[in-house]
Amino acid sequence: MTVTTPAPSVRDVPGPRGRWPVGNAPSFRRGFLHAMTEGFRTYGDLVRFRIADRTFLIASHPDLAQHVLVDHAADFPKREASFALGLLLGDGLVTNADHASWLAQRRMMQPMFHRARLAAMGDKMSDAAGRLVTRLEEHAGRVVDVADEMNLVTLDVITRTMFSADLGGEAGRVGPAVSQGTRFVQARISQPFTPPLAWPTPANLRFRRQKGVLDAVVDRLIAARRESGEVSGDLLDMLLEARDEDTGGGMTDAQLRDEVLTVFSAGHETTANTLTLAWWLLSRHPEVRFRLHGELDRVLGGRLPTADDLTALPYTRAVLEETMRLFPAAAVTSPRRVVRDTALAGYRVPAEVSVFVSIYNIHHHPDVWGEPEVFDPGRFLDGERPAHRFAYLPFGAGARKCIGSNLAMMEGTLILAAVASRFDLVALPGHEVDLELAITLRARGGLPMTVRLRP
Ligand code: HEM
Repeated sequence: MTVTTPAPSVRDVPGPRGRWPVGNAPSFRRGFLHAMTEGFRTYGDLVRFRIADRTFLIASHPDLAQHVLVDHAADFPKREASFALGLLLGDGLVTNADHASWLAQRRMMQPMFHRARLAAMGDKMSDAAGRLVTRLEEHAGRVVDVADEMNLVTLDVITRTMFSADLGGEAGRVGPAVSQGTRFVQARISQPFTPPLAWPTPANLRFRRQKGVLDAVVDRLIAARRESGEVSGDLLDMLLEARDEDTGGGMTDAQLRDEVLTVFSAGHETTANTLTLAWWLLSRHPEVRFRLHGELDRVLGGRLPTADDLTALPYTRAVLEETMRLFPAAAVTSPRRVVRDTALAGYRVPAEVSVFVSIYNIHHHPDVWGEPEVFDPGRFLDGERPAHRFAYLPFGAGARKCIGSNLAMMEGTLILAAVASRFDLVALPGHEVDLELAITLRARGGLPMTVRLRP
């Protein structure tokens, strides 16, 4: 007779002990990033948390990322858009949890992000980098908030490449609206009791105001295009012309707004945070700066970079890649919801449990990366790649992988090259970066730096 022992259940996954009725909410008092990294250090690759009656798991190993995002992705779809980030972005491509309509939207938008199409956007990106350089020249010798500047330049790129528009004076309102909106959304994930959005609590009212700012900017973009009737061959045209295969109808105004708002928000804040943290790392690592300057001086000799220069700037690109390893802007994926009883890492996991894949923890995993805390862009040179395919996933993995990864790498490298070839951005004495994870990973409170012209 063979005796089989049943697989352990999700309740056996290691994790902090909770307190009735809030569960592990106190573990999140110092923020999601702290709970996620401490959980990994203390309990390992799979950690269980319970907040009120919700159980969620944080997965921090490349094998688990592959399991959840690729091999068994059908068991772990994204959660419905009404959860967390959907409150801000509605039902667009990032948050849409309905497979059929997501697939139709993704297929419709994908051509906009093909390499050939992106190459044609190179001039718009270089122009935006040039406008940033001009602004920084005006501030030479003074202190600027680098996070603000990076937000402005990436917003400039996304509105011009995807929507052929210029936000002008409105641009300054978008950054704060996105960062406060995402902070609100992040807090709700780990709060035991969340009042419905319709209730007029101070936090809800603030959030609704920020969402109102974003909706108004996006509505004006759409209205201006409809009024002008111009055809620009951009993403906005694609969205306006899209027709449902079955009904032949176009998108509703609400769908259109969600899609535009999604690309608008997801398409600039992540890249801005990455660049901001790249300046921070560069300011701390003179040996990396020296090598970067060597490449830029040799290839550009002081002129602004264009898309044609990209292949000659491997170290600049590696600086960006290594920044995204240490500080992945999307430090954790959106939650996946288990839809049928399944297994993960040998545990039985019932429907309704949520799973987050921790890109941050995977990028710092000591079994996968040598000296994981060391900033060394050399890891990404000469085709060097980590042994595990899913050890490096700043843009996620599987079908829901980032649609804008090539765009982000292209604009990020161009902006880094344009600024670093002209300026040193110098950290203020004694200033430390405090990382905050509010949907995206960022420097809390921005990053003041002195703009110094390079000799
Ligand atoms: C450094 C910059 C960026 C990073 C680190 C980043 C990261 C990510 C990650 C990790 C995901 C997957 C999330 C998940 O699985 O839950 C994602 C999805 C997405 N990203 Fe990005 N992203 C960046 C830039 C961009 C840009 C420039 C755009 C648009 C132009 C964009 C648009 C999107 C969209 C629409 C999705 C959802 C794709 C889908 O579900 O089909 N992202 N991004």
